[in-house]
Amino acid sequence: MNLLAVFSASFFLVISVSAAGLKEEFAWTRLSYAWPSNGQRVQRQIKGQLKGYESGSVNYEANKDTQSIVFEEPDNFGGNGIGVRPRPENQQAGASGNVDGSIDYQYENNIPMGANVWRNKLFITVPRRRLGVPSTLNYVRLDSSNRYNVPLIPYPNWNINIYPDTSGAGQNFVSVYRVAVDACDRLWFIDTGLVEIPGNATQVRPTTLVIIDLNTDQVIHSYVIPADQLRTATQLASLTIDIDKTACGDAYAYIPDLGGYGLIVYSLRENRSWRITHNYFYLEPTAGEFFISGHNFQWNDGVFSVELTAPKRDGYRTLYFHSMAGTHMYKVSTRILRNETLATRSYHENDFRNVGDRGTQSQTSCADIHKPSGVMFLGLVNQNALACWNTNLPLSSISSVQRDDRKMIYPCDVKVHNDNIYVLTNAMPEFLYGRLNYDEVNFRVWSNTVEGAIQGTACSSTTSSSNGGNRAENNGPNYN
Ligand SMILES: *[C@@H]1O[C@H](CO)[C@@H](O)[C@H](O)[C@H]1NC(C)=O
Ligand SMILES: *[C@@H]1O[C@H](CO)[C@@H](O)[C@H](O)[C@H]1NC(C)=O
Ligand SMILES: *[C@@H]1O[C@H](CO)[C@@H](O)[C@H](O)[C@H]1NC(C)=O
Repeated sequence: MNLLAVFSASFFLVISVSAAGLKEEFAWTRLSYAWPSNGQRVQRQIKGQLKGYESGSVNYEANKDTQSIVFEEPDNFGGNGIGVRPRPENQQAGASGNVDGSIDYQYENNIPMGANVWRNKLFITVPRRRLGVPSTLNYVRLDSSNRYNVPLIPYPNWNINIYPDTSGAGQNFVSVYRVAVDACDRLWFIDTGLVEIPGNATQVRPTTLVIIDLNTDQVIHSYVIPADQLRTATQLASLTIDIDKTACGDAYAYIPDLGGYGLIVYSLRENRSWRITHNYFYLEPTAGEFFISGHNFQWNDGVFSVELTAPKRDGYRTLYFHSMAGTHMYKVSTRILRNETLATRSYHENDFRNVGDRGTQSQTSCADIHKPSGVMFLGLVNQNALACWNTNLPLSSISSVQRDDRKMIYPCDVKVHNDNIYVLTNAMPEFLYGRLNYDEVNFRVWSNTVEGAIQGTACSSTTSSSNGGNRAENNGPNYN
């Protein structure tokens, strides 16, 4: 039997064909940036393709054919990919005038990994897995009339995104994977501080939790994760914020460590964090095989993203989590996680629950929950698909929202903002194990309303019976 036959036979999700699903919002063949100014001295190095990106299990290959080219007056963005597009006049917001030093840009090393939305900003993050990433934290305007190859605008400005940091302050953002937006108009992220040059990873800055006030564009808080909460294999690639918008000072961040198999909990009020261990944070040994975009490979990523429900009757949310190399869904109450004593006790009794197996080929990168309806969206990397699961219903009701083996390769970020769903796909396996064609669309942001996305799926069946608020997840079967 060929592989495709195995996959379709063993795949239990119901594929529903409808006009619902997702719409392609933005598309990029390659990433470019809204450059700070004409005449800015820009250094570009032409390099071969980066090998090894997100998974810690990849072998890096040093690149031999490196050359440097310096442009004094970048003024074109020609079909040969050499040269730099000057900043259009209408894209100056967010950029802050002159930038010290040179900007190193190698488009082949710019792979978007995170997407999230706040008001008219669609944030796009580009981790520094190699040199040539001009800016790690960026956005584009959600209402931009241009939807194709829109240049990224560094956020909150160019200066704080420049590497190397010539200011001497050591506060520049080094490498950001994914960002969270909270109900108090703040942007949260982990700056890994690591420039992951193959064979020569350099810790430029300690691993730091950073919070930006989105109304003022100011960094309002930085917290260095204590070294004893990190492991040699640590990879902090996402985070989820637990907050009640009437108590902005009392937020918690839950930060999965996909490489070190742990969960870090940070309390904003206490400005303190603790690390939790549990066997459920590990990879599942039989679920590490991936077949994506024609490439077979094995990954060992553990707990990858965590998702919060609306508060339950006891006032605490349920946190769902899963490993990337895994097909099970687990959960734990934030009542446990927020209490360091309970969270770090050596025997957890039944605080952590196994919700069940989502089925073969259901390996999931990121996921998020639409809190009013309790619908979770999951990026199914082995199926080039987005799935949904109404957390009020049995796990077996998980359904496919959309699948596209050509256009949706590697859903790497999934975010619900208000009543909308946003998904970023970045074709990463092709980047890692094949060769991206930078003249074709490689990166896409998809979206829809939650209601539209789940139309015709098993996820929509109970949303209309919502009792008009955040308690909808209390309807239906209860997994407690
Ligand atoms: C490794 O990176 C550091 C900092 O970027 C640099 O100084 C050093 O020369 C690099 N070493 C090698 C072997 O490339
Ligand atoms: C929070 O902790 C960090 C340690 O990383 C410290 O630098 C910072 O000043 C603290 N902030 C507050 C508000 O206490
Ligand atoms: C944490 O849980 C322990 C054990 O149940 C309890 O004694 C303690 O009061 C809790 N701490 C907080 C801050 O709630």
